[in-house]
Amino acid sequence: MRLSVIGCGYLGAVHAASMAELGHDVVGVDIDTHKVDLLSDGRAPFFEPELEELLARNVDAGRLTFSENFSAIEGAQVHFISVGTPQSESGAADMSYVNVAVDSMLPHLGRCTAGPEVVAGKSTVPVGTASRLAQTIERAGALLVWNPEFLREGFAVQDTLRPDRMVYGLPDDPGTAARAKEVMDAVYERILATGTPRLVMDYATAELVKVSANAFLATKISFINAMSQVCDAAGANVTALAEAIGMDERIGSRFLRAGIGFGGGCLPKDIRAFQARADELGVGDAPAFLAEVDRVNETMRAGVVQTAKELLGDNLTGATVTVLGAAFKPDSDDMRNSPALDLATELSGPAKRVVVHDPAAGPILAKQEDRPYEVAPSTQSALEGTDLIIVGTEWREYQDLNPTQAAGLARTRYVIDGRNCLDAQDWKAAGWTYRGIGRR
Ligand code: UDX
Repeated sequence: MRLSVIGCGYLGAVHAASMAELGHDVVGVDIDTHKVDLLSDGRAPFFEPELEELLARNVDAGRLTFSENFSAIEGAQVHFISVGTPQSESGAADMSYVNVAVDSMLPHLGRCTAGPEVVAGKSTVPVGTASRLAQTIERAGALLVWNPEFLREGFAVQDTLRPDRMVYGLPDDPGTAARAKEVMDAVYERILATGTPRLVMDYATAELVKVSANAFLATKISFINAMSQVCDAAGANVTALAEAIGMDERIGSRFLRAGIGFGGGCLPKDIRAFQARADELGVGDAPAFLAEVDRVNETMRAGVVQTAKELLGDNLTGATVTVLGAAFKPDSDDMRNSPALDLATELSGPAKRVVVHDPAAGPILAKQEDRPYEVAPSTQSALEGTDLIIVGTEWREYQDLNPTQAAGLARTRYVIDGRNCLDAQDWKAAGWTYRGIGRR
């Protein structure tokens, strides 16, 4: 099938490459020339495991092209909208990219000869968006499906090609819905053939599935982080607690890792946008607990700054603090809303020096001007002369650090394990004063 993907960021680039991998003929459209050039060369504009191989293979095979020109989408049977919906100042989702994408594609719709033409929305949008857009799109000759994406950065290719489930939000008219569903089934034929559940629902529910999944995940993390604060006060251990409650199948053990909290391009903005939309709908009280989820998340970062102050006392003003990690999570170079980077910025005020290292995001960070911290090219150089190590992102290489070797590089041996990913006993045995999150 001929497909187009509008917006080639984390979501779109991975989706375009994955659809080509399924055997489709795909064109990705983006207004960013640099991104289009890189992608056309088979190179990934960001760090994402497996993506570059997928891009290179499919660009070479001639199944995958990229363009800045919307006319490139003409004749494709399915057009995926995968532009960003960043947080606006009010907290609501900024819909300008979606609106521009739709306006720009309209003049090029209605030219597919292979069968019904479909616009498939993948972007995370406020509930009500699809029904707002459907009529305009139908008038231009295509049907609209809302087909949310649940990919995690770091596992994006895997999540796209082997998703837990596929969700289609379909038009109300049964005949139109059946035609749109058939087209989407053809796109995902190879994925569905492996037994992936495909759930069919109305537009509004499909839009809400995505935001409520993220709201639930954020709530789960803030729940365990709230427990970590109680554990700290009570002298209990949140890791043991999480393991024990997670064995109850109704609770489940995933997303119960206490730490400095969630960040990234999705969870923080999605819970705020969800709240803003619920307010608009007059039901703002129902998800009001999400403001608490957000607040608990922020308190985790503040807690680490406080612990740093307690550990170093007056010496903080002359101290070098090393923050290990800048990406919001490992296997990503995404620093949007990164808890680790927030800590580096916060501590650069009171500390003498803050040195940041990150195996993937570090080189990007190093190029930024006006940052209040240094960027080290290696973990080793980041640890030289340090007074306090803060693990902000649980990269494997930090988990594998040898505490004795690290002790040889440091000036004083304080470590705050912001992701509870180090072996506390090993570090203590090597002479470090160790602080985890909720595992004192
Ligand atoms: C998330 C959703 O998981 C995904 O389904 C959606 O499509 C996009 O948003 P992503 O932002 O890539 O994906 O990251 P995720 O793996 O969910 O982690 C989010 C944040 O939560 C990270 O900062 C991570 O460090 C943190 N986290 C995760 C915890 O603090 N504790 C946990 O137990 C799990």
